[in-house]
Amino acid sequence: MHRFRATPTDRRNCKTPGQRTPVDTDRFQQNQLRGSFNTHAATGPYNAHYDRPALLQLLGHVEGLSVLDAGCGPGLYAQELTARGARVLGVDASPEMIRLASKRNGGGAEFRVHDLESPLDWAENKSFDRIVMALVLHHLQNPRSVLREFHHVLRDDGRLLLSTVHPVADWRRLGGSYFADERVQETWSLGLEAEFRRAPLTAVIADFTAAGFAIEALVEPQPAPSMEAEYPKHAERLSAEPGFIAFSLIKHPSSQG
Ligand SMILES: C[S@@+](CC[C@H](N)C(=O)[O-])C[C@H]1O[C@@H](n2cnc3c(N)ncnc32)[C@H](O)[C@@H]1O
Repeated sequence: MHRFRATPTDRRNCKTPGQRTPVDTDRFQQNQLRGSFNTHAATGPYNAHYDRPALLQLLGHVEGLSVLDAGCGPGLYAQELTARGARVLGVDASPEMIRLASKRNGGGAEFRVHDLESPLDWAENKSFDRIVMALVLHHLQNPRSVLREFHHVLRDDGRLLLSTVHPVADWRRLGGSYFADERVQETWSLGLEAEFRRAPLTAVIADFTAAGFAIEALVEPQPAPSMEAEYPKHAERLSAEPGFIAFSLIKHPSSQG
């Protein structure tokens, strides 16, 4: 186990990989009540001008498709997807996020509270054309089990699109060994308390493979052109170093059936 030095604005400490703690919905609710993530995700540089444009482009056409928005947060992806003609079911462990997502989407999409680390036994096998999981993977305690659940409910010709923090970004910010695979607690911008896994790219991809997925495309996003006007310093930095990474995954042919 590794422990980072704590500072007043940047508190980090680690748990052994695999330690399971229930999803702390209260923490998400407290953050949400401060309005931090909702506002941040709607207009902030990392979500509005970096993650969403990149992942939505990777997702491509969704008209007429059924999409599971896994860890939907306040429903910003769902809003984009329904506007593009998809039938969206958003799930999140946080009741407050689900409330905000429902409010934002006004009946245009369905939402339900669900901890992704529990079985998706209420969903039919092979019932989704696409699963989108934006910026959630690094929060999961058992990513392989979650990905295996996705494998069950995704059609054989479906796609799982996901984004997560780029391992190089974690390494540059946190220091230590690039190859460390451990849980970290950190205070992000706007006081958002985050617990997540840092892991090298090999370990991230090993989880995809173990769950029966193969990589169709890997994207190291560039800032959307809109970031330059609104957040020029972020645009300059994210043009030169990675922040997030995105994948389009398909079911490996040997795992279908
Ligand atoms: C960074 S936010 C991303 C939200 C949304 N995907 C977006 O990009 O706008 C992470 C979300 O994952 C949710 N989350 C974290 N762990 C989860 C779990 N085990 N099951 C369901 N949701 C989870 C949180 O409640 C939060 O809404």
